[in-house]
Amino acid sequence: MLKDLNIGIIGIGTVGRGVVKILEENKEIICARAGVNLNIKKGVVRDLNKTRDIKIPLSTKIEDIINDDKIDIVVELIGDVQKSYEIAKKTLQNKKALVTANKAMLAYHRYELQQIANDIPIGFEASVCGGIPIIKALKDGLSANHIIALRGILNGTSNYILTQMIQNNQDFFTALNQAQNLGYAEADPTLDINGTDAGHKLLILASIAYGINAKPQDILIEGIESINADDIEFANEFGYIIKLLGIAKKQDNSVELRVHPTMIDKNKMIGKIEGVMNGISVIGDRVGETLYYGAGAGADATASAVISDLIEIARGKSSLMLGFERTPQTLLKLKPKEEIQSRYYFRLSVDDKSGVLAKIASILSENHISISTFLQKEIKHKNAAKILFSTHTTTEKCVKNALDQFKNLESILQNPYIMRIEDE
Ligand code: NAP
Ligand code: HSE
Repeated sequence: MLKDLNIGIIGIGTVGRGVVKILEENKEIICARAGVNLNIKKGVVRDLNKTRDIKIPLSTKIEDIINDDKIDIVVELIGDVQKSYEIAKKTLQNKKALVTANKAMLAYHRYELQQIANDIPIGFEASVCGGIPIIKALKDGLSANHIIALRGILNGTSNYILTQMIQNNQDFFTALNQAQNLGYAEADPTLDINGTDAGHKLLILASIAYGINAKPQDILIEGIESINADDIEFANEFGYIIKLLGIAKKQDNSVELRVHPTMIDKNKMIGKIEGVMNGISVIGDRVGETLYYGAGAGADATASAVISDLIEIARGKSSLMLGFERTPQTLLKLKPKEEIQSRYYFRLSVDDKSGVLAKIASILSENHISISTFLQKEIKHKNAAKILFSTHTTTEKCVKNALDQFKNLESILQNPYIMRIEDE
C-alpha cells in the first residue's frame, strides 16, 4: 500500500486544471514513479461560481491550504508576483514543500526563497519553457560544465505571434488574440510581447547556469511590438528569420544577459522553431552544444512540468533550489549593457532628398559603425524613403549614441528602429 502525499493547489486556471486532470488521468504511472499516492486534497480559486470541470474540493481562502497540517506540498499557480511571494514564504515557513510556475515572482525573489527554504524542496521546472525540462538539464545533466552560451526562444506567445506574422501574413493583434484563446499568454499579455516574460525566464536560467543574482531592471529587455513587414522582408532577403531570443554569454569572468528580437540564420535549428514551441541551445565547455525543444506554454505541457516536480519531491531527492551548494570561488559579474557587442539592423524613415544619406553615413562613421548590407525603398507619393541596413559588430553604446543623433536629424520622419543580428 503506497503512502499518501497530500497536495493543495492555489490557482485552478489553465495550468491548475491541467495538473488536476493529468494527476487523475495518468494516476497509475505517476504514483508508480513517485512511490507514493499524490493526492490533491484541495484547490483555491477566486471565484467559486466558474465552471471548471474538475472534481476536487474548492475554497477561496489561501489559508485553507497553507495552514492545513495535512497538506505536504503547496502548488502555487495564481500568477500575481506579490501574492505569490507571500504564499511561497508562508508555505516554506510552515515547512511544506513548494511547487510554483511563477517566473515573474522567481525573477525577483528566487534568492530570498532559497534562503528561507534551506532544505525544504522548491520545484519550479514549469516556470521556464513550459514542458521542456531545462531546469533539470542545467541543474543536473550539465553540472560538470562552464556554460559558454545559452540562446533560447523562451516565450511561446511571442513565438506564436511572430510565426503567424511571418508565415501567414497575419496581423499582430489577431495572432495575439489567438494565443490568448489557446491559453498561452499571461493574464497581462504585455509581459509576453514586451520581452519581460522571456527576461524573467532568462534570469532564472542564469542563476542556475552561472550563479548570477540579477533582476529584470539590470538586463537588456526588448519586445516584439515594433517589428513590421519591412523588418521581416529585410531578414528574409538576407537569409535570416526574426525570433525573440533570450541570450546569455560568458566571457572571462563576466556574463551578458539580454532578451530582444533577433535576426538569426533561418537554417539554424532555433530558426526553425515555430508557433508556441520553445527551444534552447546550451553550449557547455565540455559537452559542446546541446539542444532542447518542446511546447513552451499551454495547460498540458506546463502541468507536465509541475507534476515532474511533485514526483521529484515525493522521491525525496530534491537538490538545493538554484543548484549551487556553496558560492563558487570565481564569481561571475553581469556585463554592463552598454558593453554588449553585436551586429545590428537599422530601419530609418527619412525625407527622400539629397544629402540625407550623407548625414546618416556621417553619424555612423562618428560612432565607428560600419555598414554591412544596405537597402533603400521609396515610400510612394510621400517624397520619403525607408533605409534599411545591417552593420558589422559594434557596441550597444555606439548604437545608442547613433540613435540619439538620428533622432535629432530634421529629415528623420519616425523613431529609428534597431534589431540585433546573431550570427554564431
Ligand atoms: P490563469 O489561467 O489566469 O489561472 C489563475 C488561477 O489563479 C485562477 O484559477 C484564479 O482563480 C486563481 N487566482 C488568481 N488570483 C487569486 C487569488 N488572489 N486567490 C485565489 N486564487 C487566485 O493562469 P495560468 O495560465 O494557469 O498561470 C498560472 C501561473 O503559471 C502563472 O504564474 C503563469 O505565469 C504560470 N505559467 C503559465 C503557463 C501557461 O501556459 N498558461 C506556462 C508556464 C507558467 P479564478 O479561476 O477563480 O479566476
Ligand atoms: N506566457 C508564457 C509564454 C507562458 O507564452 O511562454 C509560458 O511560460
